[in-house]
Amino acid sequence: MNMGGDPRFAGRKRGKMSTRAWTCLAPHLSLTFQGAFNSMSANITEQAAELAVDEELRARGVARILISDVTLQEEIRAIARELDAEYGDDIPLMVGVLTGAVSFMADLMKAMTIPLVVDFMAISSYGASTKSSGVVRILKDLNDEIADRRIIVVEDIVDSGLTLQYLIDVLQRRSPRDVRVVALLKKDKADAVDVQVDRIGFHIPDEFVVGYGLDYAGQYRNLPYVAVLDPSVYEITE
Ligand code: IMP
Ligand code: MG
Repeated sequence: MNMGGDPRFAGRKRGKMSTRAWTCLAPHLSLTFQGAFNSMSANITEQAAELAVDEELRARGVARILISDVTLQEEIRAIARELDAEYGDDIPLMVGVLTGAVSFMADLMKAMTIPLVVDFMAISSYGASTKSSGVVRILKDLNDEIADRRIIVVEDIVDSGLTLQYLIDVLQRRSPRDVRVVALLKKDKADAVDVQVDRIGFHIPDEFVVGYGLDYAGQYRNLPYVAVLDPSVYEITE
């Protein structure tokens, strides 16, 4: 277990997230705990945390659990504390990017304590593909004007970065006071565009992930954790 010297983990005992804790939270899973995730923009690429999934999930194409519910919530609480401190009385407008960010948005705003306003935007996504097309359009716009508002964009995952780049551009043209971007996940890939992301929950390997809001062909969003999708699921259809 590599906690990377993160002071927030000081004093935390090895193996604190026990198998018992995991199975309490997800009793339908038979989970084998072999490691823990680093947090705070944690780079989990080389971490050995492999949580076994049961046959039912494997049959649905869930290869392995990458980030557990417990680890997600822990990081989200940390992000919430930072945002509380950053915005104080400014009443930020949190803009959730539909549909993938719904789980993250819901948990993040509940963990925050300052006054805030929420709204959502929907922009075109992959459809049933796992590759970003780079073609982005607004399917649902914000309800209100954002001039002079402080905006927090809440995004599920930054992959190529194209979606976010487009979205930031659209928002900036409306003269907000400022725009900050919080993304739960960011894939480590060399060819991603250099886009503004102010806070990243977890760096993940360049694999297709589902759960906790993230979908493949509309499914898997309700899984309470982030899991790697077995490539055989999408290689058949692409
Ligand atoms: P990008 O434009 O390539 O950065 O992709 C942005 C959007 O694609 C994200 O907001 C997600 O909705 C979706 N996406 C990218 N990677 C994944 C993935 O691994 N699983 C599920 N959705 C993804
Ligand atoms: Mg998205």
